[in-house]
Parts: sequence; structure tokens; C-alpha cells
Amino acid sequence: MTETFALSRRGILGGGSALLASAALGRSASATPIVTPAARAFPKNFLWGTATAGHQVEGNNIASDMWLLEHVRPTIFTEPSGDACDSLNRWEEDLDIMQALGLNAYRFSVEWSRIEPEPGAFSSAYLDHYARIIEGCHKRGLAPVVTFNHFSVPAWFAARGHFGANDGAALFGRYCDRVARRLASGMAYAMTLNEPNAAAQLHWVKLPEAFGGAMRAMYAAAAQAMGSPAFANTTFQNSDASDKLIAAHIEGFQAIKAARSDLPVGVGLSLDDDQTQGSTVVRDAKRLSVYAPWFAVTRTHGDYIGVQNYGRRVYDANGQIPPPPGSGASGRENLPEALGNAVRYAHEQTAKPVLVTENGISAADDAVRQRYIPRAIAGLHAAIADGVPVLGYIHWSLLDNFEWFSGYREQFGLVALDRTTFQRTVKPSAHVLEAIARANGLRAEQLGDSV
Ligand code: FCB
Repeated sequence: MTETFALSRRGILGGGSALLASAALGRSASATPIVTPAARAFPKNFLWGTATAGHQVEGNNIASDMWLLEHVRPTIFTEPSGDACDSLNRWEEDLDIMQALGLNAYRFSVEWSRIEPEPGAFSSAYLDHYARIIEGCHKRGLAPVVTFNHFSVPAWFAARGHFGANDGAALFGRYCDRVARRLASGMAYAMTLNEPNAAAQLHWVKLPEAFGGAMRAMYAAAAQAMGSPAFANTTFQNSDASDKLIAAHIEGFQAIKAARSDLPVGVGLSLDDDQTQGSTVVRDAKRLSVYAPWFAVTRTHGDYIGVQNYGRRVYDANGQIPPPPGSGASGRENLPEALGNAVRYAHEQTAKPVLVTENGISAADDAVRQRYIPRAIAGLHAAIADGVPVLGYIHWSLLDNFEWFSGYREQFGLVALDRTTFQRTVKPSAHVLEAIARANGLRAEQLGDSV
């Protein structure tokens, strides 16, 4: 805690770097300067956005592996996704909300199981659907940051062994080729895979043995339902498919680049702020297995590194020190200052610009999120002031949505959802992000007593 605070205070005190000064100057030319001299200004054209993922918001993603896993018995899903937020039909309303909040970026995913519901059968209608969303983003001044695969895959792909299948990477490449040829021209950033290091990350979390057993039973039931013993999920299961996932990223990267060479393409990593107390041995071993392969492939096949941070873990010689009570099921301490550290580490390891593609907190009490956002962004500002090139901050999530195994119990949204009427209600935390985005900077008073 002391270390992370020291970092952000240095940034606060040393906020006069050339980069930031020029951004502030550019703004002060306007008739009514929005950014006061006390503000921590962000670089010109900085992206401020929110993120969603198809399966979590669209609803009725019935050809996907997740839909199957939600409905088999036994299942570890608390509840099925059902209609989710009905964003398949209500995406224009979602975009309108972001525009009204003064944001300039939207990260969303295109759903593979809608675009290719059977192997090799591609849906022009769904490609058109996503083309309309991209166009809708442009009309509203939102840069489309598009994820090609956000966890859910077609059930047929999972039944063949998921990314672990010998031709998994090639099949993903073929899908990326079709999507990119149709949609890449309108994208601002492309992401091949969302958190392909999630299984590796999970491997380091001491989950109760019963959870592992329940997970295996669910996959066995899905294998039986599909009549395929190969059924797998390399994203969530502890598996050694890391090399195959890397191969899939490379195939995807190349397919997207072939369609549009100037489109920035990258991967979004689950990236904790891994701190140590005493020995660094365990922490370093974790970093080596969970992040290093992805940093390496980003250096050769990546234009930016996507950072997805939800807090920090502290390690000593024996492993992770249990986080303070109330830290949530992920075993992370939801410390907003963790973001800046994760961003610094990702850049140091890849030498690539960083795009924060996810950051946020599950909180039923929105006041928690209202306090969290400025503190996380202050840490990001400090990293920029120290020279880290950061392209944007994309908050997870626009909406309270289907949080995978936890169902609708978690509330990460800036916007609340009525699950019967699908009415969206903007929360005060959305206006906290709005004020920062509109000013392209942070004012001291927004940090309250954390300054
Ligand atoms: C990330 C996922 C995203 C969401 C958030 C809370 O790991 O990429 O879909 O579940 O966590």
C-alpha cells in the first residue's frame, strides 16, 4: 500500500512533464477552458471508454459453449445468461448512453458463435449486425475497440477440444480472416483474445478442491451432451494449452493484419499487480508462467498491450498472502492503485504502448465505485507522467451484466439494469468517469481524501 501510494504522489507532485504540459496547453486555447491548472491532464486523443463482452450483454447466445455449460447438469454457473442485457437488440441505446456520458471509445466483442454457428458456415447477417454497431460508434464519436474472442466460443469449437485442438489456432485464424475482411476497416483497435492467460492465472489461485471437482463434472456433462469426449475449455480450465493459445493469437494477428495492416492489433491480459513481502521467488515464478509468454509474443506480434487489472496480490516465500477480508472470491485486493503498477510493468516488459482494456470493481454500493475510479486513474496519470505511453482507459463495465460463473450477482456496471424491462439507469459513478473524460483530466477534488 505504501509503495503504491508513493508512486501516485510522485506523479501528483511531478505533474509537469512535457507531454502533459503540451496536452494542457492545447486545451487552454479553447474559449472556456475545462481543465483547471490543478488538473492532471491526460494526453491529447486519450481514449475514455467502457467495455462489454457479447456473451455477457447480448443475450440468447445459444450456439456458444457457455450457453451449453450454463444448462448442463451439473453446472457451476449460478444461473444461465438468458436474455442478458438484451444488448443484441438494444445496442443503440447503449451507444447513446456512452455518447451522453462524453466518452470516446467503446470496447465490445463480436460473437464467434453467431458469426460461425457451424464450422465453416459464416453468417453475413451477423457480420452486418456488427458492422452497424461499428458505424453507430463512429456516428457518436466512439472509437470501436473490438475483441474477436471474449471467452465464449461456438459449442462445436469447444467440442473439438477448444484452442487445445491441433487445428484450433487455424480455425480461429479462419474466423478472424472473415471478420477482419468485413469489419476491420471501421475498427480503431483490434484485440484477438481476451485474457488468454486466465487459466494460467487461475492456476495460481488456491481454489477449494470442491470447485475443481465441480468444474470437471460440468465439462464431463458437456462432453456427454455434445457426444464428444474432446470437449474442453482452455480459457478457464487448468490446462497446458498456453502454446496453442499463443499460436491462435499469432494466426489471428496475421489474419487481421492481412486485411488491414495499419490497424493496431493486440491481446488483453489478465494482469494483477503482483507485489512481494520478503522473498520474490514465488511472485517471479508466477510472472514467468502467467505473463512472460504473452509479453514475448506481444513484442513480435502486438502493436499495443491490453492491460486488464482488478487489483493486487502479495506474495512471500510460501505463496500468496491471503488478502484482507472482504476482498472477494478472486482473492485479489481491489486496490485502485494496483492499476498504475500493472500498466508500468506491462510497458516495461513489452516496450509497447498500453491500452487499459479493463479495470473496475464489483460493488453493489455505487459509492465504492465512485471512490475507486479517480484513484485508479490517478495512478494511471502518474505512470504517464513517468513516461509510460498509455493510449486510453476503458472501464469494465458499461452495464451490470452476466458475470460468468457468478451470474448476475456481481455488479461491475456504471449503468444498472432492470432484468425484466431491460431499462438502463445511469449510476453516479458513470458521471464520475464522465467528468474525467470531458475534462481529459483529473482535478484534486475528485480524489477526495485519497490525495
Ligand atoms: C475479466 C473478464 C470480463 C469480466 C471481468 C470482471 O476477467 O475479461 O469479461 O468478467 O473480468
